[in-house]
Amino acid sequence: MNTEVGKDLEKVKRLLDDASTVAIPTETVYGLAANGRDPEAISKIYLAKQRPLSNPLILHYKDAKSAFDDVLNVPKNANILAEKFWPGPLTMLLEKKSLVPDAVTAGKSRVAIRVPAHETCQLLLQKLSYPVAAPSANIYGRISPTCAEHVRNQLNTRIPYILDGGPCLKGIESTIIGFEQGKIMIYRLGSVTIEDLKSCTNAEVFYIESNAQKDEAPITSGMVKHHYAPNTPMFSSEDLDRSIDLSNCGYIGFDKPHPDFHTSNQFLLNDTGLMDVAASQLYRAFHIMDAKNFKRLYITWLPEKGIGRSINDRIKRAIQKNKP
Ligand code: TXA
Ligand code: MG
Repeated sequence: MNTEVGKDLEKVKRLLDDASTVAIPTETVYGLAANGRDPEAISKIYLAKQRPLSNPLILHYKDAKSAFDDVLNVPKNANILAEKFWPGPLTMLLEKKSLVPDAVTAGKSRVAIRVPAHETCQLLLQKLSYPVAAPSANIYGRISPTCAEHVRNQLNTRIPYILDGGPCLKGIESTIIGFEQGKIMIYRLGSVTIEDLKSCTNAEVFYIESNAQKDEAPITSGMVKHHYAPNTPMFSSEDLDRSIDLSNCGYIGFDKPHPDFHTSNQFLLNDTGLMDVAASQLYRAFHIMDAKNFKRLYITWLPEKGIGRSINDRIKRAIQKNKP
C-alpha cells in the first residue's frame, strides 16, 4: 500500500501507540519514529530502513526533564548545554537507565537523547506517554530526507504514514556529544557548532573525526567514512578532471557559479553566502542533483568554520568512496 502523507497528529499518535513506525519532521532532518519503550515497534524501524541492528537510535523527548529522567550521572555541563540548546539540534550520549530498552542502544550502556525543536514534532511528543526512537528517515547509507517528498521517494510502501511538517529548517543532522573526564567529545558534527559548544562551558571541546584507525567499531555510525552519499559519483571541485566532458556533469556550489559547467547543471547552496541557508539546502541539492543522472557531481568546500565545518564533514563522507 502507498504511504500516506498528511498532518493528522491524532492518526500518528494512534499508529505509534499501535507499535507502527511513522516518519516525522524535526528541525534537522525527517526521522523514522517508533515507541521508544517498545522493542517490537523499534524492530520495525530497522526493517523499514534496512539498517544493521548494531546501529543504535536516538530517543526524542518533549523536554529536558523527561530526557534526563531516562539517564544516570548527568554532568553539570549536560545541564548547561540542555538549558542553552534544547529544544534543538544537540544529541547527548549518557548512561542509560534500565527502562531504556537494549533495542534502542543496540546493547550499549549509553543512550543518545535529544529534545527536538520542530513545532509539529513537539506537538506530537506532548501527546505521547513515551519518547520516540528515530533515526533519519532514509534507507540505510542513503541521503537523509529534509522534506516529506524525500521520505516518500525512499520509503513509499514501507511505512504507513509521513507526518508533513514542511522543509527542515536546519537541514543537517544534530551534533552528537558525550562527556569524558570533564571534556566534551563531539562524535558527529552537526547543526550545533564547535563554536556554539565552546561559547557556554569552560570545558575543553574535542572533535573525534574517526576512531576507526584503532580498528575499533566506530562510536557512532556518522563516523563511518562513507555515508550520506548520493548514488552519482561525487567529487570535490578541487579535483576537477578537465579531460572529461563536463556537459553531462553537475556542480553544487556555495555562492558563485562555476565557469566550466552549464548554468542549468549547477545548484548554488546560497548565492548570498549565508552558511546556515547553505546547510539547509545541502541534502536538497544532493537529492535534486542525484535525480538528474549526471555522470559525475562536483561540489565545492565551504569555509571551514561554524556550520561550514559540519557541511564539509558531510561533503567529505559523500566523496570518500570515489577517492583513489
Ligand atoms: O538530527 C538527528 O540527529 C536526526 C533526527 C531525526 O533526530 N537523527 C539521526 O539519527 O540523524 P541517525 O540514526 O540517522 O543518526 C544517529 C547517529 C548514528 O550514527 C548512531 O550510530 C549514533 O547516532 N548513536 C545513536 N545512539 C548511540 C549510542 N547509544 N552510542 C553511540 N552512538 C549512537
Ligand atoms: Mg542517519
